[in-house]
Amino acid sequence: MLKLGVNIDHVATLREARYRGRGAGEPDPIEAARVCVEAGAHGITAHLREDRRHIVDRDVEALRASLKVRFNLEIANVPEIVEMALRLKPDVVCLVPERREEVTTEGGLDVASHMEALRSTIRRLNEGGIEVSLFIAPDVQQIEASAQVGAQFVELHTGAFAEEFHDPARGGKELDRLVIGARLARSLGLRVNAGHGLNYENLLMLHRVPHLEELNIGHSLISRAVFVGLGQAVKEMRALMEGYEGEAGATG
Ligand code: PXP
Repeated sequence: MLKLGVNIDHVATLREARYRGRGAGEPDPIEAARVCVEAGAHGITAHLREDRRHIVDRDVEALRASLKVRFNLEIANVPEIVEMALRLKPDVVCLVPERREEVTTEGGLDVASHMEALRSTIRRLNEGGIEVSLFIAPDVQQIEASAQVGAQFVELHTGAFAEEFHDPARGGKELDRLVIGARLARSLGLRVNAGHGLNYENLLMLHRVPHLEELNIGHSLISRAVFVGLGQAVKEMRALMEGYEGEAGATG
């Protein structure tokens, strides 16, 4: 079954817009996570940024204490935040780029240029009982590097696909890259997630990509929640994810 991980950063963004630095305020991302899980989300994702622009330390601590589903913590590979992750022990850490020099031209983590640093962080996180995912473009070089540095998962960056999906030729090309990338990742022993820019319009097209375990979705869900409520937004997205056939889907 294709699983839904809900990224709750945007709930915290809204809170910080009004209550920055106040130590409390609405809307509460922890309550949002509870509603998402009750509506059928399989996991919760939060990005603890170095600048704490949305999710802050108390959020990740409260999430760790309250979540009964998979907690995926997105972080940059910087010592202070990696130490926090080691103390916090989320189920999964997804390493993402935050600085320009860490980013490939397509916006994913430039694993191939930072192999030694990533190998060491992945080893430490794994020794701490935390699985590691790398957020990368569906690019051969980055996928091969991800396998070489010992990651358990890659999260394929669907941003380029999401930008182009309205155009059959360009969207189809981006989708093909995801299909090829997922196959390559799986053949190298990596487990495959995907995310960024996925929405109620483009989700069905993604059924063509094989081997996907989890989609991480934030913006479109929180946007839809403004009109229909968060629980309903999650249920609608789950309905679109139903019937995903994994390997079989890619042959059609
Ligand atoms: N996956 C990763 C690694 C991300 O950084 C983000 C964006 O915060 C998402 C998924 C979710 O993207 P979106 O908010 O566009 O659904």
